Amino acid sequence: MIDEKIFLDFLNTRRSIRAFKDDTIDEYKLSKILEACNLAPSSGGLQTFEIYQIRQKEMKERLVSAAKDQTFIAQAPLVLIFCANPSRSVERFGERSQLFSVQDATIATAYAQLIVHALGLSTVWIGAFDERKVSEILQLPQAQRPVAILPIGYENEKPKEKTTRGSKDLLHILD
Ligand SMILES: Cc1cc2nc3c(=O)[nH]c(=O)nc-3n(C[C@H](O)[C@H](O)[C@H](O)COP(=O)(O)O)c2cc1C
Repeated sequence: MIDEKIFLDFLNTRRSIRAFKDDTIDEYKLSKILEACNLAPSSGGLQTFEIYQIRQKEMKERLVSAAKDQTFIAQAPLVLIFCANPSRSVERFGERSQLFSVQDATIATAYAQLIVHALGLSTVWIGAFDERKVSEILQLPQAQRPVAILPIGYENEKPKEKTTRGSKDLLHILD
């Protein structure tokens, strides 16, 4: 078991980073990211998400234009795109597989963000993008839906100050 102070400190030191060095990411680190994603909880344990990897410059530039010109995406040596794949669970969950698969992809993305931090790398969750354009770039099968883009690399900026609502504000006590 991990000490909760260590765990919360770890969460507290993760920050979104939007400038990356040129240094490449080795296969060991990529394999650890995938290992973490593979451990994420998922609907019915069916892992209804897919991860696409992009390292090629031209593909990254195309993603930038599909993501409101967030140019730092192309700076990152590794870009992972997390997609929902409801076709893996539609027989079991019917219409609900649409939502479940988005949740599965979301949780996997969150796990990836955390292991990225543990590996001494940085990232930022990119959600502002044109789904149709990203689907085209990745040549996604019809059933799949892009959920999040993670540009991953070594940080080349100081993270922004973080403000939050505060933990107490999150809870609405009904009893
Ligand atoms: C669903 C979602 C979508 C996001 N989309 C973007 C985005 O398109 N571009 C961006 O720069 N940051 C994006 N972010 C990152 C947030 O701005 C960032 O997580 C937030 O400001 C808190 O900062 P922190 O990650 O350093 O704690 C997104 C985060 C989430 C969870």
